[in-house]
Amino acid sequence: MAIHSARIAAPQVDEFARDVARGLALTPKRLPSKYFYDAEGSRLFEAICGQPEYYLTRAELALMQTHVADMAAQLGAGVRLVEYGSGAGIKTRLLLSHLHSPAGYVPVEISAPALQASVAAITAELPQLPVRPVCADFTRPHALPDLPVISTRTVIYFPGSTLGNFEPDEAVVLLRQMRAEMGAAGAALIGIDLDKDRAILEAAYNDAAGVTAAFTLNLLVRINRELEGDFDLAQFAHRAQYNAMAGRIETAIISRCVQDVVVAGTRYHFAQGEAMAVEISSKYRLDRFDRMAARAGLAVRRCWTDPSRAFAVLLLEPVRV
Ligand code: AVI
Repeated sequence: MAIHSARIAAPQVDEFARDVARGLALTPKRLPSKYFYDAEGSRLFEAICGQPEYYLTRAELALMQTHVADMAAQLGAGVRLVEYGSGAGIKTRLLLSHLHSPAGYVPVEISAPALQASVAAITAELPQLPVRPVCADFTRPHALPDLPVISTRTVIYFPGSTLGNFEPDEAVVLLRQMRAEMGAAGAALIGIDLDKDRAILEAAYNDAAGVTAAFTLNLLVRINRELEGDFDLAQFAHRAQYNAMAGRIETAIISRCVQDVVVAGTRYHFAQGEAMAVEISSKYRLDRFDRMAARAGLAVRRCWTDPSRAFAVLLLEPVRV
């Protein structure tokens, strides 16, 4: 299957270099979490999803297994399902196999290998389903390909609480983009993690096996490899803390000592204990999420949650004006 190369926005080393230089020059230092996902980062993220403390993946899958038929009924027949991020996960396959006569599936993913893998997995399981991958950064406007049959509506699928990795204003921008992309008849199906007890949240981002720590610090490995950095990994540590006021886990890389690091020829100073912010993982309250969606011209039409209200899958539709 040919990937939609006309819409390729391949990950640019230049953009990575520019974002890292900018982030290391900030006070406090801050690096975008989207750069976690090189091949090793993606492998480590898969491993995180299987950790006993990381309840999110299991909770969302259980929710989908229980309610997928209802979700499919709400979405209706003839849907063009557009997934933000590499799909082909078990949740995506579950949803696609329950949709009524779907017009097709459009995964939008910046990593070409991840996209290829996703297409192969979907095609193996659902050989009749038209699949039109788009290799692009889903956070930027991207044209959607036509399908062999005309769809009744466009539904954007964004599982995994990935929306929570965006700052609130960025999340609104992304929801607005979804609203524009889905059109007046469209919808979005979004998985979000719900706010809960600090101990449960902090355990999920500090697993005992150290997989999340390895995932976080892999960002430094990537900088060393791709940007000629000289981070000494033994001198940095992973830290993930719950910020109750903001309702989110904040992950940082902590400098264990006073040190200088060179990246792409520029020297950066770190104080002992200095925190470099690398990720937020928002934990939503449903009433606040409603308000955020409203800022993007969307309304929550349905909300599926598990009995312990750990996670929610929301159906959003445009507010009619
Ligand atoms: C992809 N995203 C929703 C994960 C999260 O929970 O924020 C990424 C992750 N970071 C550490 N563990 C998992």
